[in-house]
Amino acid sequence: MVTEYHIPVLLNTAVSYLINPVIRNHVLVDGTLGGGSYSKLICESVPGGSRLIAIDKDENSITFAAEILKDYREKISIRQGNFADVGQIVTEEGFVSITGIVLDLGLSSYQLNEEAGFSFMKNTPLDMRADKNSELDARTILNEYKEKELTEIFEEYGEISKASRLSKAVVEARRRQAIETTEDFIKIIKREYGFKSALPVKFLSKLFQALRIAVNDELNDLKKVLTDAFDIMIEGGRIVVVSYHSLEDRIVKNFFREHSEKAVQAGKALKILTKKVVTPEYPEVRSNTRSRSAKLRAAEVVIA
Ligand SMILES: C[S@@+](CC[C@H](N)C(=O)[O-])C[C@H]1O[C@@H](n2cnc3c(N)ncnc32)[C@H](O)[C@@H]1O
Repeated sequence: MVTEYHIPVLLNTAVSYLINPVIRNHVLVDGTLGGGSYSKLICESVPGGSRLIAIDKDENSITFAAEILKDYREKISIRQGNFADVGQIVTEEGFVSITGIVLDLGLSSYQLNEEAGFSFMKNTPLDMRADKNSELDARTILNEYKEKELTEIFEEYGEISKASRLSKAVVEARRRQAIETTEDFIKIIKREYGFKSALPVKFLSKLFQALRIAVNDELNDLKKVLTDAFDIMIEGGRIVVVSYHSLEDRIVKNFFREHSEKAVQAGKALKILTKKVVTPEYPEVRSNTRSRSAKLRAAEVVIA
C-alpha cells in the first residue's frame, strides 16, 4: 500500500473549528477517516477522557488508518460504515449524544489513484464504489439506466447542459457492446463531442464526478448525516464540513441557514462560525493542488 495515502486539506483549521474548548469530555465523530490525519490530530488535541468515533465506507481506509492510529486506541473507535448511519453507529458505541462531527468529503488520493473507475487518467473497470460491498457500480449505471435517467445524472450531478446528446450516444454504444472500462466511456465522449487528441479535462472531471455521486448516493448521504448529527448534538457541539464542489457546498450552506438562530424561533439552532466560507491559503494550494476547490463551513449548536 502507498505510504502517502492522502494529503489532508485544511487540517488545522478543520480540527480547531471542531473542538469547542469549553467542552471537557468530548464525544466526536470523524465521518470521513480517509488516511487518518484528521483523526490523529483530533486525538492529540482533545482532553483525556474524550472519545473519537472514526468512520469510513472504504475498507482500504480502515486498514491504513488503523495502523496510523494504533497509539490512540484508548481514545478512538474505528468503524467501517456510512456516515449517514451516524445515529446508529453512535448508539452502538454506547453514546446518546455527540459534541461534534467533521466531514472532509469526496475521495482520498488513494481512492483516486489506486481504486477502479474514479480517475479518467487510468484505464480501469467502471467501478467507482467507495464501499465495495454496495451493489451499484458505474458500469451498471452506464449499461442499464434509461436514457432519461442518464441525462438527469449528467445534468444534475455533473452540472452539464444539454446532456441528452451524451446519454443518447451511451445508449447507442451499449447496444453494440457493453461499456466496461473508463476508456470505453471516454471513447464514447470523444466520438460524440469530436474531441481529438487532448483530453477535455474539465468536461471529463464533471462527468466522472456525476457518475461517482450517483454510484455512492453522495448528496443524500450528506443531507442525512447533517440532519442526524444535529439531532444528537449537545449544546456547544460543532459541525465542520469541508466540501470540494458546489453541489455539496450548497447543501451545507442551506442546512446551516435553515437551522440558523435567525430561522429557528425556539429550541435547537445553529450559530454559524464561518461568516464567510473558509478556503485554503496560497501555500497550501501551491503544495497540494487538490486543496484548491476546498470550502470549509462550521457551525455550533445553540439553544435559541
Ligand atoms: C477526502 S477523504 C478524507 C481524508 C481525511 N480527512 C484524512 O485526514 O485523511 C474522504 C473519505 O471519506 C470517505 N467517505 C466518503 N463518503 C462517505 C460516507 N458516506 N460514509 C463514510 N465514509 C465516506 C471516503 O471513502 C474517503 O476515504
